[in-house]
Amino acid sequence: MANKQQDAMASLVSLCKRRGFIFQSSEIYGGLNGCWDYGPLGVELLNNLKQAWWRAMTLREDVEGVDASILMHPKVWEASGHVANFTDPMVDCKQCKSRFRIDVLIEDLSIKKKKKIVRALDETALQGQVRDEQVIEEFDKRVSTEEQMESVVTTLVSCPQCGNNGTFTDAKQFNLMFKTFVGPVEDSSAVVYLRPETAQGIFVNFLNVQNSTRQKVPFGIAQIGKAFRNEINTKNFLFRTREFEQMEMQYFVRPGKEDEWFEYWREQRMQWFIDLGMSKDQLQWHKHDKLAHYAKDAYDIEFKFPFGWGEVEGIHSRTDFDLGNHEKFSGKGLKYFDDQTKEKYVPYVIETSIGASRSLMAFLCASHCEEMAPTADGGEEKRTVMKFHPALAPQKAAILPLVNRDGMPEIAQSLTKDLQKHYRVFYDTTGAIGRRYRRQDEIGTPFCITIDSETLSDQTVTVRDRDTMNQERIALDAVKQFLFEKVGGSL
Ligand code: GAP
Repeated sequence: MANKQQDAMASLVSLCKRRGFIFQSSEIYGGLNGCWDYGPLGVELLNNLKQAWWRAMTLREDVEGVDASILMHPKVWEASGHVANFTDPMVDCKQCKSRFRIDVLIEDLSIKKKKKIVRALDETALQGQVRDEQVIEEFDKRVSTEEQMESVVTTLVSCPQCGNNGTFTDAKQFNLMFKTFVGPVEDSSAVVYLRPETAQGIFVNFLNVQNSTRQKVPFGIAQIGKAFRNEINTKNFLFRTREFEQMEMQYFVRPGKEDEWFEYWREQRMQWFIDLGMSKDQLQWHKHDKLAHYAKDAYDIEFKFPFGWGEVEGIHSRTDFDLGNHEKFSGKGLKYFDDQTKEKYVPYVIETSIGASRSLMAFLCASHCEEMAPTADGGEEKRTVMKFHPALAPQKAAILPLVNRDGMPEIAQSLTKDLQKHYRVFYDTTGAIGRRYRRQDEIGTPFCITIDSETLSDQTVTVRDRDTMNQERIALDAVKQFLFEKVGGSL
């Protein structure tokens, strides 16, 4: 089973490179770990995903948008708690000098090793034949706090790099923010950070937005932008990277109303994934037991990746922590004045925070499908299909003249030009029609429009549906309207 899932992941990563979705950053120099580039199809998919989020979050009366700068005053990160708290406990191997995050070392332990550790901690535990679930349960009971993890790692875990035992240093806290300097002098007074989340650019602009738009609480501010984290263990393709994009929205509410808005946004955000084609059994909620320094309550939306369940979005009830702290650290009032009740208060915040790149990977995994399909000669062959929702698909249609003569290319080119005013479409004349369909299936183009001999006589075309592979004839001059109905957009 595990091998099958690894194969599925490997085949997706290879398709992403081959067809121009995702490339390794600086590949010709051997790559830069934790950074990825979007190719011609990847950037279309990413833009479509961001647009779907932006439309869902801001085409309503009570949410405004901003685009704040990546570099911010360094005090922002003191106020937000990131300077003090945005750390991971790390150990170094004294032998080979490799550095590891403690929680990742624990996460990567095999069942066999976990069983050994439980027995080392308690001689009476896990005697005789035991099931894997029992091992996990007993292990988690004994190794859950940061102190317990550190003690296990430094005494019972060997270095994954050099294999030595007992060579780890005591744990040190490592801050995940990237530091740089403004201006020519590289001293401590010039330190700034690449933002580790986009949220703070929203908080510091709370009053600017409220005053300029005259929004009344409750209202939200949305933003899409880059974030940077010096992750020690980047892994699983786009899942954990050092440079990524976030799509965040902070919704400001009257204190006491946060629980009902928390439920509202949880529902909205789960529905967004379903509306874009994910099935309910690919998604689940995970409630945080251990809350971040700012949170009163927090849930993750998790997606079932081939390597297991992983967070794609967090919904956080952040209280007045951020605005309250920015008031303290900046000395500027950030209270909201309710002109009906004449009250002044610091609003509470519900945050929805989704990674654009991580959710793009979730949509890639959810759409990737290898299945048997009938061939023209009555046989069967394997076809790879990316079953993207039409709104996300990088190309909306392929325009295919059946043969490269008899006026078919001219009609196809003219249709392509017309559709290109509204949609990204692709004109393709090379190869047998079946092979052209397969090439489009592999990149998730929802519709193939074929110009054939009947088009010459009755001005109709065939439209082939990517998922059902059914074909229907429609009038040539109805193609634009057809795409509009299926894909959306504006004519
Ligand atoms: N403002 C709250 C915040 O940043 P988070 O849970 O740390 O919360 C939110 O991050 C989302 O950002 C995650 O659910 C994930 O989708 C994305 N994300 C976080 N770290 C990431 C990384 N290293 N690589 C890719 N995406 C990441």
